[in-house]
Amino acid sequence: MHRSNRSNRSYSTIATHSIPVTDQKYKKELRIALELAREAGAAILEHYEGPLHIESKNSYDDLEPVTQADKIANDLIVTRLTTEFPEDGILAEESIDTSRRLNKSRVWMVDPLDGTNGFIDGNGDFAVQIGLAEDGHCVVGVVYQPLTGVLYRAVIKEGTWIERPDREPERALVSPQENIHEMRLAASRSHRSPRMNRVVSELGFRDEVQRGSVGIKIGLIVEKQCDVYIHLSPRTKQWDTCAPQIILTEAGGELTDLFGEPLSYNVPEVQNRNGLVASNGAAHETIIEKLSPLLEEFGRKRVGG
Ligand code: IPD
Ligand code: CA
Ligand code: CA
Repeated sequence: MHRSNRSNRSYSTIATHSIPVTDQKYKKELRIALELAREAGAAILEHYEGPLHIESKNSYDDLEPVTQADKIANDLIVTRLTTEFPEDGILAEESIDTSRRLNKSRVWMVDPLDGTNGFIDGNGDFAVQIGLAEDGHCVVGVVYQPLTGVLYRAVIKEGTWIERPDREPERALVSPQENIHEMRLAASRSHRSPRMNRVVSELGFRDEVQRGSVGIKIGLIVEKQCDVYIHLSPRTKQWDTCAPQIILTEAGGELTDLFGEPLSYNVPEVQNRNGLVASNGAAHETIIEKLSPLLEEFGRKRVGG
């Protein structure tokens, strides 16, 4: 299938400056992840104007679109990570998953193009996401939006930083908003479940922003444009959440499944089957408590360990 028409496109300068990084434990890992995110972003943009070759792939229990840009970005990232960190495992969306990673304490979680729908539609909502999990916990994360040049980065215990073209990096902190009725919700623009209407009316959020890409929605929270993001479906994968999770938690936020339990990284099950709740952390438990009867009403029970 070839795409023909797209609208609402916007462009801005893409940052090419080198980024100051700290001399802490994951210095090399962060440096390589930053370089790769920008390189992959540039490669993706070469295809943004088209022609775009769109295939449908079987992704677990779902059918998802994939383009040549997803594959090119995936190859570029995986090839360099393999060279730079030969001992690490890699779980990348467009590579075949093997059990090799399961014996590794360090595993890279790569979504080379999160928000393929936004890329295809030409609405700008897509990002490169590169995360590193160590002993099941996210320790490094980079989310880069090629079209705007905005990049979020975090290393465990070193905070979250936002890089914008031609500006000094700035520290990101979530909002202090603790009143649920004053909170702004981030939700999917292309995968929004009809059940979200029940959630929104029961929890009584102030308003809702619909955007594509998990990393971009987490970005809205660390930019204080939203306070909470709820994802009801069981379809996000470890590569969707790894980099965004450390970016959120290092900015003071919290990310759990819909039942308030932590996500597990580098487990055989690639999907986050129990959904997601990401927030500024100020009322996370209350949100989980209020969700509980709704999940019961939806017949949703927590699966896995
Ligand atoms: C999500 C992401 C992701 C996909 C998830 C989606 P959204 O959609 O794009 O790539 O694997 O299953 O829910 O939040 O962009 O609409
Ligand atoms: Ca994704
Ligand atoms: Ca993807």
